[in-house]
This record gives sequence, structure tokens and C-alpha cells, in this order.
Amino acid sequence: MNIDRLTVRYGSFTAVDGVSLEVPKGSVTGLVGESGSGKSTVARAVAGLTPYRGTVTGVAPGRVQMVFQDPYSSLNPRMSIGDAIAEGTRVPRAQRVAEVGRLLELVALPATYAGKYPRELSGGMRQRVAVARALAARPELLIADEITSALDVSVQGAVLNLLRELRGELGLTMLFISHNLAVVRYVCDAVAVMHQGRLVESGPVEEVVGAPRHEYTRTLLDAVPRLARA
Ligand SMILES: Nc1ncnc2c1ncn2[C@@H]1O[C@H](COP(=O)(O)OP(=O)(O)O)[C@@H](O)[C@H]1O
Ligand SMILES: [Mg+2]
Repeated sequence: MNIDRLTVRYGSFTAVDGVSLEVPKGSVTGLVGESGSGKSTVARAVAGLTPYRGTVTGVAPGRVQMVFQDPYSSLNPRMSIGDAIAEGTRVPRAQRVAEVGRLLELVALPATYAGKYPRELSGGMRQRVAVARALAARPELLIADEITSALDVSVQGAVLNLLRELRGELGLTMLFISHNLAVVRYVCDAVAVMHQGRLVESGPVEEVVGAPRHEYTRTLLDAVPRLARA
């Protein structure tokens, strides 16, 4: 997927200003920056949910799936987990139960959870369901937008590990959005740093973290607890 000079305006305010970014097939690219820097706006543009100037190539808007921050509002409370996942699948009706079971197991949940409702699940489990639902559509690109930010620290690691495993198993192409550079480093091959709607730096994640070129990237690194950097 290739983004070229993406610009998004809300009225007279430019939220994303000429951002160019490549997410190579099978890679996980991180988009990092503080709150309000324009990360979610990039995601919405790529998914075709907001008008933009510039070009997005290499992926059809209909083949982009997103997982959002809040696991409590992203699932319909009246719909069973199985139905929520089945909605997105592309398999014939007769194969849906098996496909839902396969997807649940892919995100390390028992297939029997298909009959449960969101209120019966923890935040971490709901995020797993949201990932399963996104994968059900067999997306060409998965966008994960701050998917661990609302979770307990104790379960964040498990969800990040799940993404790493899925990436290995499925060869997922992913745009992984976070305000936390330590989290991005754990999951991504490459990272792009956004600041006030612009891309200030990008490259292989170890290079950017190891030798940040931009002052703002250094500020982000200083915000990461020392232990996580070791
Ligand atoms: N629908 C909208 N209308 C007006 N301004 C918006 C809208 N959505 C986001 N913004 C503004 O655009 C900027 C970037 O927002 P966003 O992309 O959500 O940033 P991030 O995801 O990095 O926190 C912020 O200043 C935000 O207030
Ligand atoms: Mg956001």
C-alpha cells in the first residue's frame, strides 16, 4: 500500500499535510505521534471513510479493515460474538459456523465463545473478537488504531503478541497506529513519526529508535519508560 502526498482538511484546518508513506506487502508499519497529530485521520482516509487529496494505491478501500481503540463500543451489545464475526466473512452460509470457529481459534479464543455476548467478555477478549471480525473479511490491509490503549496494562502484551503471531501465520500487511513508541517497536518493522499533521521521520524501527534524527522523535523516546527501552 502506498500513500502519496495525502492531505486531509476539516474546514480550514489541515489535519494531515502531504503525508507520503509506504506499507510493503507482508510488513507491519507503525504510525506514531502524540494525540491530535493526525494518525486516525490517515487511517480513515486510507479506509475510504474521509475525503482526501493525494493518492492511496495498492489496496482497494473495500479490502481495508480497521480495529479501533475502544473494545467496549466497537461491538454491537445485542449481537453474539459468532454473529458479529460471521457478518464479515466471505464464505457461504453453510461454512460460517466452521469459519467463525476457525477465526476464534486464530485469535486464541475457544470456538464455544461464538454463543457469548460482548458483555460477557473482558476488554482484552473483546479486542481479540474485533481482530477476528476484521480478519473475517480477509483484508489486504489491516489498520490497528491504538488497539491496546484502552486496555489494562496486564493484557496489552497478550494482544500485541497475538498481532505478532498473526502476522507470522497470515503474512498480514498492517498499519499499526500508536502514540507509544515502545509498543510500535515491539510490533513493527518500520515506523513513521507524525507531528502536527506532517511526517517528520520514517525508517526501519530500530534505526529510528536507535538514532532518531528529528527532535520530536527524541521527545517521544524520552516519554517511553526506561525499562521498555532496554
Ligand atoms: N471530524 C473532525 N472535524 C474536525 N477536526 C477533526 C476531526 N477529526 C479530527 N480532527 C482534528 O484533526 C486533528 C487530528 O486528529 P486525529 O487524526 O484524530 O489525531 P490522532 O489520531 O493522532 O490523535 C486533531 O486536531 C483533531 O482535533
Ligand atoms: Mg487517533
